[in-house]
Amino acid sequence: MASGGGADFGGGPAAEAARLRERVDYHLRRYHALDEPEISDAEYDKLFDELVALEAAHPELATPDSPTQRVGATPATKFAAVRHATPMLSLDKCNSIAELEAWEQRCQRLLESGDESRDENVEDSDGPRYFCEPKIDGVAVSLLYRDGRLARAATRGDGESGEDITANVATIRTVPRRLADEDVPAELEVRGEIYMPISRFHAFNEAAAAKGERLLVNPRNGAAGSLRQLDAAVTATRPLAMFCYSAGGEADWQDGRHSAVLTKFKRWGLPVNPEAQAQPDLEACSRYIDALLAKREQLDYAIDGAVVKVDAFALRRRLGQVTRKPRWAMAYKYPAEEASTVLEGVEFQVGRTGAITPVAKLAPVFVGGVTVSNATLHNMDEVKRLGLRIGDTVLIHRAGDVIPRVSRVNESLRPANAEPVRMPSACPVCGAAIVRAEGEVVARCGAGVRCGAQQRERLRHFASRLALDIEGLGHKLVDQLVAKNLVKSPAHLYRLTQEDLEGLERMGPKSAANLLAALEASKATTFARFIFALGIREVGETTAAALAARYGTLDALLAADVESLQEVDDVGPIVAAAVVAFFADAANRDLATTLHEDVRIRWEVPPPSSTEASAGNEGPPLAGQTWVLTGHLESLSRTDAKARLTALGAKVTGAVSKNTTQVVAGPGAGSKLQKAEELAVPTMDEAAFTAFLTRHGEQNTEAEQHEQHEQHEQHE
Ligand code: IVH
Repeated sequence: MASGGGADFGGGPAAEAARLRERVDYHLRRYHALDEPEISDAEYDKLFDELVALEAAHPELATPDSPTQRVGATPATKFAAVRHATPMLSLDKCNSIAELEAWEQRCQRLLESGDESRDENVEDSDGPRYFCEPKIDGVAVSLLYRDGRLARAATRGDGESGEDITANVATIRTVPRRLADEDVPAELEVRGEIYMPISRFHAFNEAAAAKGERLLVNPRNGAAGSLRQLDAAVTATRPLAMFCYSAGGEADWQDGRHSAVLTKFKRWGLPVNPEAQAQPDLEACSRYIDALLAKREQLDYAIDGAVVKVDAFALRRRLGQVTRKPRWAMAYKYPAEEASTVLEGVEFQVGRTGAITPVAKLAPVFVGGVTVSNATLHNMDEVKRLGLRIGDTVLIHRAGDVIPRVSRVNESLRPANAEPVRMPSACPVCGAAIVRAEGEVVARCGAGVRCGAQQRERLRHFASRLALDIEGLGHKLVDQLVAKNLVKSPAHLYRLTQEDLEGLERMGPKSAANLLAALEASKATTFARFIFALGIREVGETTAAALAARYGTLDALLAADVESLQEVDDVGPIVAAAVVAFFADAANRDLATTLHEDVRIRWEVPPPSSTEASAGNEGPPLAGQTWVLTGHLESLSRTDAKARLTALGAKVTGAVSKNTTQVVAGPGAGSKLQKAEELAVPTMDEAAFTAFLTRHGEQNTEAEQHEQHEQHEQHE
């Protein structure tokens, strides 16, 4: 263990916490400020985890200055706020040439109708109409040059104001600290995209892997994380670069055209994308879009589309903007990136409910910013639809740019010995027969909780973040507990003793005590989390929250029949049947009642005092409300925001309608925000939202603490 000597509770928990805090702070400083870590990341994490567990067991010891409280929150407040002189806008997007043509027609109509306001001095009909550029998938920044010297760099933030990252940007070699020419305006704002070149991302990761250091997830995250370093010396070690694509505002040095601005940029030494090109008409833009897509794989930076911009500023001025998007530009989004690789095999995984999922084992391939070596195939129908054989060359893409999927097979490259994919007849884990119910596409291991895989998955689910969030009970530990027969069901977790745990691999007395403390801490939970944690088939976090809001107590939920269940939001016949079937099983009822006696259910806020709430004022405060989250949230993840809202009783949906109670719009919010404005649905920004959450519950939910911990783990 990293903690070395003095690792007993000799001085009592308070002294131990103080000691841990000091050491965590020390190592944090060595890592971030001095860039000279003394211990490995794993050792550091262990120290940090000990502190988290100790504070969880003794909340009175969690001082406000403890590193556990600070991590994650620090970067957001450490950088000074910068207000952009003119807002940093976003782009309207389209996916087809037809949409692009419709856009051109719209522009033309607007320009014709506004003819009387025409600026007679500008020859806007001469020269190229459009300008095309790659849409770089990086981080938008603004650079301010005063008298040709880099004076300030800021992130885009919410478009109105961002964060001052001057020290970090100053470390990027392609960003000039001084501009080259004399005709540079006294004050010049330059906007562009900072990115991590793909080749250098790979090289960085290779070196990091060799040193046993943490890897960057992908080039975009790598760029974003590097820019958010509190210590610019860390940023300096990261391979970053920039492409500049516009000036901020419309300064008088701009002589009429975007293309002319970029020419000046180049003369001043500012990096401009080499693919950027003026185009005479839309047809030429369309050819550009195709050509750029064909080139995409050769480019050393990630792009997610092409941007078509009206070149003349006089025309831009007349076109104006709507809801933070200029009418004079359009992003043509490319489909998710595809890559081809070889299907080396298919593995069958057993899920929590026994579902057998075929998983493609692929020769590793870099696609959409990550290296992919596994892709779910969902079920055998999908395997059949794709016509997959082992040995096939397959195309992979990342759906919604997240989950890797096999999109199709290249049959012309099929080797002679390619083998068909066969569903095993017995569960690969417990050997029980595999059954496929009539009308269902999913095959399942029929052994239920007697199957080790199902036991394990159920426990993992129970301990997971959105369920009881048991800190430190990771997958490996669950595997050990199941393998050693110490735990078969979640109820057994709360019966574990110090002796039980000390017998496990890599588990000293102290880690055992930490886990027991974490288990104890997990008992304080919400009814929604409790229901979700039971792992009822078809019941995700949203449905669990709806059930919690509707029934309020376990007894009421146990007594619910199919009819009453279907009155709950989001619950249809299938979900209702799954809930009834779950509780019809005596083992499940026992599990629920035993666990219910172990935990301490709380509502995340005091029940509302007003009359609106249902029976006995026991309902959560946002019961009956529908919320929509859109855009990017800085201070908490979408998942956490959603968890917080559902814990408060709200339903969180993906689409804005007249039934939406409230929209939370982070930076980058697009059509949903527009829709909300149209329908006069109330909106709030992130600051208002976090203030709202603070008013409506504890400052730090367990989920948030976990999140902070995770952010820390990335050392970003
Ligand atoms: S133009 C009109 N040009 O895309 C204001 N933006 O959705 C938009 N982006 O946050 C800027 N490459 O960071 C422009 N060649 C390019 C771009 C580009 C990437 C980003 C930009 C912005 C987002 C807009």
